[in-house]
Amino acid sequence: MTRKFFVGGNWKMNGDKKSLGDLINTMNGAKVDPNVEVVCGAPAIYLDFARSKLDHKFGIAAQNCYKVAKGAFTGEISPAMIKDCGVHWVILGHSERRHVFGESDELIGQKTAHALENGLGVIACIGEKLDEREGGITEKVVFAQTKVIADNVKDWSKVVLAYEPVWAIGTGKTASPQQAQEVHHKLREWMKKNVSEAVASSVRIIYGGSVTGGTCKELGSQADVDGFLVGGASLKPEFIEIINAKQ
Ligand code: PGA
Repeated sequence: MTRKFFVGGNWKMNGDKKSLGDLINTMNGAKVDPNVEVVCGAPAIYLDFARSKLDHKFGIAAQNCYKVAKGAFTGEISPAMIKDCGVHWVILGHSERRHVFGESDELIGQKTAHALENGLGVIACIGEKLDEREGGITEKVVFAQTKVIADNVKDWSKVVLAYEPVWAIGTGKTASPQQAQEVHHKLREWMKKNVSEAVASSVRIIYGGSVTGGTCKELGSQADVDGFLVGGASLKPEFIEIINAKQ
């Protein structure tokens, strides 16, 4: 089973029209591997701007959305609004949503179901904290997070699973290729047992956490690493190197 390599950028709450415009120009002019699916997560207020400027060979993602279509939910955005901006992806369950904004597994599950039902692709994020890794419960944590997502997915072709150990996010402490491969492999085994063999072999499991131009090649060569979710480095021209990691 060949899985199309997937590289997501997560701009988080960074940039302005000037700097993001410059980044977009760099991306539009770059030579990128046509066999890689690239999706950039833009701040909600810049979704329209990013979609209007970024070449359409690159996808755009929102970084969050709410679990219902509309209503009195001040500050939230819906999948319908995201799609109205020509954007077809959303990042859900990012560790910053979980740990800075207190989003529960249950809420992330509900958001996943609603986003998929409304035609968005979902980059669903999971990952253990440092104390959980040190306590030897990495598997237990990521399996539990994956289960809540899985319980809310009917069509796995629209889902990319992002394994992002929290201790590696924004810390410069990338998981070693062996550590990433080990968890990705276990996640695929979990999928085989709890979803189906077909989904286990087709779903893309991407790694996130301090991925750089320097670390992407070895990480990307691991059997079960099907791409990356990139934060800091996705704001730099280095992102192009990461997109082309497999070349
Ligand atoms: P980082 O962020 O690459 O800056 O560690 C990754 C992420 O949060 O998706």
